[in-house]
Amino acid sequence: MKYLLSGFNTRAAAESGVKSGYEIVSLDCFGDVDHGLCCRLEEYVDNNNAPYQETLFKQIGRLLRQEHFNGIICESGFENRPDLVKKLYRFGVPVLGNQPVAISRLRNFPKLSRKLVAAGFQAPLTFAGGEAVYLKGKNTVEQRRWLKKPIQSGGGWGIDFVRDGTRIAADFALQEYIGGLPCSFAFLASGSRSMLLGVAEQLIGTAKENQRLFGYRGNIFPLMLPVRADQERVCHAAAGIAHWLTTTYGLIGLHGVDFIHDGEKCWVVEVNPRYSASMELMELAGGLPMLKLHIEACQGIMPREDKDALAAWSADTACYGKLILYADRDLEIMGHDAGVAEWIWALRRLGIRDISKPGTFIPRGAPLVTLIASGKDRSACLHKLDQQAQDVLLNRTPLKIKRFVQ
Ligand SMILES: Nc1ncnc2c1ncn2[C@@H]1O[C@H](COP(=O)(O)OP(=O)(O)O)[C@@H](O)[C@H]1O
Ligand SMILES: [Mg+2]
Repeated sequence: MKYLLSGFNTRAAAESGVKSGYEIVSLDCFGDVDHGLCCRLEEYVDNNNAPYQETLFKQIGRLLRQEHFNGIICESGFENRPDLVKKLYRFGVPVLGNQPVAISRLRNFPKLSRKLVAAGFQAPLTFAGGEAVYLKGKNTVEQRRWLKKPIQSGGGWGIDFVRDGTRIAADFALQEYIGGLPCSFAFLASGSRSMLLGVAEQLIGTAKENQRLFGYRGNIFPLMLPVRADQERVCHAAAGIAHWLTTTYGLIGLHGVDFIHDGEKCWVVEVNPRYSASMELMELAGGLPMLKLHIEACQGIMPREDKDALAAWSADTACYGKLILYADRDLEIMGHDAGVAEWIWALRRLGIRDISKPGTFIPRGAPLVTLIASGKDRSACLHKLDQQAQDVLLNRTPLKIKRFVQ
């Protein structure tokens, strides 16, 4: 079976599909060399700064007209453009995932938050932006802290605290800030049934460490809380939210939910109706064939074993981590001595993924590579990721980088 995957970054989902024996054609905005080694990779052709989803859409259309696919799977980024997902239906190729109308509803943060709260779950107060929305003086509702968040969000870009009096543009939402541990969970859905696949901690940029505030930096899987009972409560809450979302919106396929654990409760801040980043770790840790689960769920087939996959994540499970290493200054990826495949495999063995072509210029703040590690617990895992990051930045791996002086 042959599937076309497209989205902002499809490398991990493509690897998952290939591992399950599918023929994958992949198209994303990066075109990394390790991605190209795992499957047929279509080259992204930049289209005069048009939104990247529109550029991908054009290229998808061309591919669908040219050759046969058993289905197309929209990945990261298309959750913000249900209009384009809808247009894909015209090609007569099965679009494996949620109906555009369900995607639109999930991405209406103010409405979703209200509905979650009405159903007995926790979600931050959220208001649509627009000319009429201001924060008024010191009357900020009960002195809460507030964020402005782009409606078309991704990777934490554009999220920031707002001060009293800030005008919130129409393409932003105003949301109550919830203090706590950033987390995410993954679930599989098939219309009426849902299955929790795992709960992970999210690594999010903080101002203290000179990182991009709220920027996505990676995940640690599984989520390990100091008290075991708390962990079980989180899993229970996540399964409840997954079930409610599935039955309320008629969801199908893989989903990721970002939430904040405030020590007691889980506050839903975003639903991503598609493959999401932490799933790579879940596949690595437990062998869950993520893309296969997605494809089958879209055909109405759910895994028979409905007991939580989570039962497997006990205190003695190893920990898996993923870290997006952002360029700390302008960089260029240098060439390599060995053959390209050997070079890529040598880097992969060191846990390095999402490797750009030699000669690629990576501006400061842009993602340089993704690092993957495992360890006996959370801190061992974080320590390894940190070492890997140092190794890359100090040119101690075969990924030689030229750093520009600034
Ligand atoms: N209301 C909030 N309170 C606290 N942290 C938040 C809130 N909303 C988002 N965040 C943090 O910012 C990250 C990115 O926000 P999110 O809503 O998931 O948008 P994106 O589409 O950019 O991932 C979240 O994973 C979470 O850690
Ligand atoms: Mg998010």
